[in-house]
Order: sequence, then structure tokens, then C-alpha cells
Amino acid sequence: MNIQNKTILITGGASGIGLEAARQFLDAGARVIVTGRNQSKLDEVSKRYPLIKAIQSDAADETDAKNLYDEIAALGGIDILYHNAGVGVPAANLGIPDKKHLQGEVYEMDVNYFGVIRLNNLFMSMLKSRSEAAIIHTTSILSIVPSAAEATYSSSKAALAFYTISLRRHLQVINSKVKVFELLPPLVDTEMVAGRDDKKISPKELVEGLIKGVKKNTLTIRVGDSKAVYLINRVFPNLAYGLVNKKKADSLLLS
Ligand SMILES: NC(=O)c1ccc[n+]([C@@H]2O[C@H](COP(=O)([O-])OP(=O)(O)OC[C@H]3O[C@@H](n4cnc5c(N)ncnc54)[C@H](OP(=O)(O)O)[C@@H]3O)[C@@H](O)[C@H]2O)c1
Repeated sequence: MNIQNKTILITGGASGIGLEAARQFLDAGARVIVTGRNQSKLDEVSKRYPLIKAIQSDAADETDAKNLYDEIAALGGIDILYHNAGVGVPAANLGIPDKKHLQGEVYEMDVNYFGVIRLNNLFMSMLKSRSEAAIIHTTSILSIVPSAAEATYSSSKAALAFYTISLRRHLQVINSKVKVFELLPPLVDTEMVAGRDDKKISPKELVEGLIKGVKKNTLTIRVGDSKAVYLINRVFPNLAYGLVNKKKADSLLLS
């Protein structure tokens, strides 16, 4: 797919992987719009990158989503909708009853899953009207194999991975050319996993993999360890589970 002169909306684009993506899509010749909840982070983006349009919008909020659609439609619309915004709640042992389990999963699903469906519904007709358009879903290495320490987060990403496969088929049967990409990052060095001392790749490496995949029309984009875990899981699922779930993480479920 050609990126040059396309307009891309990146949710959660004021920091982490989203900000790196905003920079790289801009360098690749796209017009870039980012969203986020925190206005001061968005102001910082506008100051540092005047070409990037920053709009405050919570992916989990219906009114925000509608307002975002209206604002973007007034700006001329988008060709690529990149769902990057994502959240995870701290580890908790699901075997020990606690109302926080449900609260955490509802929060994660609201952003990581329902937020995606909400924006897809709003932007679908706009995307279908474009000569070349795409949606990018951010799942995770944890949508291949769950992490026990990030149990409900893994579930939210697995839900998104299944929805991705079905959405592609639904678009195909109505002869829509909108492409649906799935990006499966491994552990990436951002604020989200700042406390982790496991092997991480840089946001730069991840986004380079994403852009390469989008340009080559590789719909499922696995980068770094996501590639290895995917292949190992097909043949040796227990081994793949063990690679993702290191013994040391059990301590998070015992405290
Ligand atoms: N880092 C990893 O190891 C890793 C691995 C696999 C997948 N991923 C996925 O990659 C994506 C980006 O992660 P990251 O590591 O860059 O995380 P991050 O450093 O925590 O950044 C997340 C970004 O999303 C924004 N955001 C969060 N909730 C939002 C909401 N409701 N509406 C709008 N924006 C929201 C945040 O800004 P505000 O707080 O200002 O809203 C922030 O800019 C996520 O979907 C994550 O699940 C990350």
C-alpha cells in the first residue's frame, strides 16, 4: 500500500509506540493526526512536530469518538485508521476473588477492544469511499499466547485478534478493498512496560517493521519475538507458553 500523501489517524499517538509511528509515517510522506487523553502531552507533540495535528479524544468514550469523527471529516477525512491506544492493568491473581478483576477487564476491553469497534463503525464509510484505505489493529504477542500476569489484557488482545480475522472476511464479502492489518508487537520499550526487565525492542524497530509490512501489504505483521513465538506455538504450544510465562512472573500472582 502506498503511504505517501495518505492521511493517517493514530490513536494514542502522543507517546510510546504511537508517537514513534507518527514520526515515521510523517517521514514516509503521510499527513498525521494523533489522539490521546492527556492535553499536555498533545500540546508537547504540537510544539515539537507542528505538522502533526493533535486532538484530545478518549478512545473509550462514545461522545469523544463522535466529536473526533466530525472534526476529522471537517479536515478532509483519513485514509488509514491506526488503532494504537491501549491499556493494561496491574497483575492480579484471578483465583482470589476481588471486584478489581472485573473493573480491570472492563477498562481494558473499553479501550483495547470496544474502542476499536466504535471508531471502525464511525469511520468505515469514510474509509470505504477512499481509493486505497486501511485499518491497523494493534494486538500483541499475548494474543498468540496469554501471559498469566497480564491475564485480562491478553484476553482483550485475543478478542481483537479474532475480530480482525472476521472483519477482513466481512469486508471481502461486500467487495470492499479496505485492508485490515494486524500488528503484533513483542515487548517494546515504552512507559507501558517500564517496570519490566525482560528483553525489549525499541519503538523505532517495531514501527519500521509495521511500515515495511503496510507497504508490502502483509496483513499480519509480527515483529521480533512475536514471529518466533507464533511459529513455536504452532508446533510446541507448551514451550511457547513457557517462553511467555517465565517462572519469576509467578511472584506477581502470589503477592
Ligand atoms: N509496549 C509493549 O510492550 C506492547 C506490547 C504489545 C502490544 N502493545 C500495544 O501497543 C499499543 C501502544 O502501547 P505503548 O507501549 O506505546 O503504550 P504506552 O506507552 O502506555 O502509550 C499508550 C498511549 O495510548 C494513549 N491512550 C491510552 N488510553 C487511551 C484512550 N482511552 N484513548 C486515547 N488514547 C489513549 C496514551 O496517552 P494518554 O494516557 O494521554 O491517553 C499513550 O499515548 C497498545 O495498544 C499496547 O497494548 C504494547
